[in-house]
Amino acid sequence: MSRRPVNPSRRYGDAGGGAALFSLSKSRSPPLLSIVLTVLGVLLIVAFFHSGSGSGLKNLVSRVEGDFSCTLEVLRAIPILKKTYGGGIHKVLHVGPDSCSVVANLLKEEETEAWGVEPYDIEDADANCKRLVRNGIVRVADIKFPLPYRPKSFPLVIVSDALDYLSPRYLNKTLPDFARVSADGVVVFTGFPGQRKAKAADVSKYGRAAKLRSSTWWSTYFVQTSLEENEEAAKKFSGAAEKSSYTPNCQIFHLRSYR
Ligand SMILES: *[C@@H]1O[C@H](CO)[C@@H](O)[C@H](O)[C@H]1NC(C)=O
Repeated sequence: MSRRPVNPSRRYGDAGGGAALFSLSKSRSPPLLSIVLTVLGVLLIVAFFHSGSGSGLKNLVSRVEGDFSCTLEVLRAIPILKKTYGGGIHKVLHVGPDSCSVVANLLKEEETEAWGVEPYDIEDADANCKRLVRNGIVRVADIKFPLPYRPKSFPLVIVSDALDYLSPRYLNKTLPDFARVSADGVVVFTGFPGQRKAKAADVSKYGRAAKLRSSTWWSTYFVQTSLEENEEAAKKFSGAAEKSSYTPNCQIFHLRSYR
């Protein structure tokens, strides 16, 4: 619909349909046309920035839809995580939907090795993602089962969104497994309650709607499952966040690995 008015042949070219269109346009078209042109202009600007910056458009689109993805939040938080974990960020396992984008971005950082676990099917993966999967950097694996890695394989495990789709029964298995494969800690990114409504698309892709739990729920849960929150890391993180004026759009928890 937005394309029609800028097609000159339709607007001015042919005599029959064109005349009808023209008489209609006399009374209504100018404001409509200017709106359409403005929209096109905005789209062009967005496309321009997208070609330069990668995750920019995605971020914008996701905000517009009101669907706050904590996977995108991981990308925003990378500089803060670096300040918090120093060397730990140099070898990371990311677990969560859209793991390819996190891994691809981490690999752009200097001296950083990154692996990913994508818990859901990735039929719509782009060529870049398919290459990461083919090379074994990103694995597609059901996180209800133990991850195919040895204990303490990665200093840091970062998980985003994925836990919101697990019932406590599976959380009980999955979260300790993340602690098992990590050496220095697990960082959990999860939505704030009420942030995102359950969507039909979610259910078909993730098996169930996201359940966004409160920070009290999580804290109690960590205690119950003998996972220890790393207060030192949390403090460092919020200090660095404050210095960079970074306000997270997701809840972020720092857990210790098993000793
Ligand atoms: C999960 O683990 C905790 C702590 O071991 C236990 O209290 C709880 O009943 C478990 N929940 C489920 C659903 O298995």
